[in-house]
Amino acid sequence: MALYLITGVAGFIGSNLAHELVRRGERVRGFDNFETGKRENLAGLASKIEFRELDLLDPQGMAEFCRGVDYVLHQAAIPSVPRSVEDPVSSHNANITGTLNVLMAAREAKVKRVVYAASSSAYGDTPSLPKHEAMLPNPISPYAVQKLAGELYLNSFYRVYGLETVSLRYFNIFGPHQDPTSQYSGVLAKFITQMLAGKPCTIFGDGEQSRDFTYVENAVNANLLACKAPTEKVSGRVFNVATATRFSLNETFRILAKIIGYTGQPKYSPPRGGDVKHSLADVASAKEAMGYEPTVSFEEGLVRTVEWYKQALVPAESTSR
Ligand code: UD1
Repeated sequence: MALYLITGVAGFIGSNLAHELVRRGERVRGFDNFETGKRENLAGLASKIEFRELDLLDPQGMAEFCRGVDYVLHQAAIPSVPRSVEDPVSSHNANITGTLNVLMAAREAKVKRVVYAASSSAYGDTPSLPKHEAMLPNPISPYAVQKLAGELYLNSFYRVYGLETVSLRYFNIFGPHQDPTSQYSGVLAKFITQMLAGKPCTIFGDGEQSRDFTYVENAVNANLLACKAPTEKVSGRVFNVATATRFSLNETFRILAKIIGYTGQPKYSPPRGGDVKHSLADVASAKEAMGYEPTVSFEEGLVRTVEWYKQALVPAESTSR
């Protein structure tokens, strides 16, 4: 059994990874500073993982916690385009300095491999679709710049120090445990919970922007494949992790409304600063190098996510009765 360290384990993707690794009988360690992570995401995991409250900006704490670890799954970040536009410095610190600190700790601990949550935002507004990894990055928002800098650091640590690293460019991941309550929450978490509550949804811009929305189980699988794929195929490299399908926000709104039985109409507001217009991935590289396939489609992912939020929202409603 290998020992995995998940940074940001109480976050959306980190907690999904922890649940799956525990289910597979692996040993899991994780830390979070609860800035965007949630204690409730660790429900059911307390006795099964080794947890520490720790910040990415605490290099000594991380160096200690990294000792004996085989694989680091670096998910911790301040993951929001609009938040980075409003406050670039705090997201810079977490996303760039924090990533450098993780790499330093991993190198010192001689871990086998670091897998990093990179972002599709690195492509920015390059006009051609689908996006593939050989395209020149063209980041727009501070968040996109920060996530791209992290990739470059991972590549550098492989080339300079021989630390094995893999960057996974996530394309709009959604699913259970995604926080719907922040103004910076991902659009699907917001729309689903707003529709379930019978509240209005706001679309920024004309709604014709499109995304390659990816169910979280696909991202979890990609991480676990990236840990075990042959060194010569993956180390120091960057891979798209996506469904490889694209839906506009208007289409997405209609599909969700049908699943939920919501009859309201969306409100339209001005476009959001730093937004990318269209996003769609080519996942051929990840397939070839590590055997990645998106096994859960967008629609199936939506159905499962709606079910999860229905269950997750029940206790709050029934206790208030
Ligand atoms: C971007 C990245 C994504 C990354 C995420 C982290 C791209 C293409 N994608 O996602 O890989 O994981 O940052 O935060 O760069 N919107 C509404 N109404 C709302 C909320 C959002 O219309 O209430 C719109 C946004 O303006 C945007 C789309 O929905 O056009 C998606 O927004 P969001 O879910 O925040 O993700 P991205 O910024 O696309």
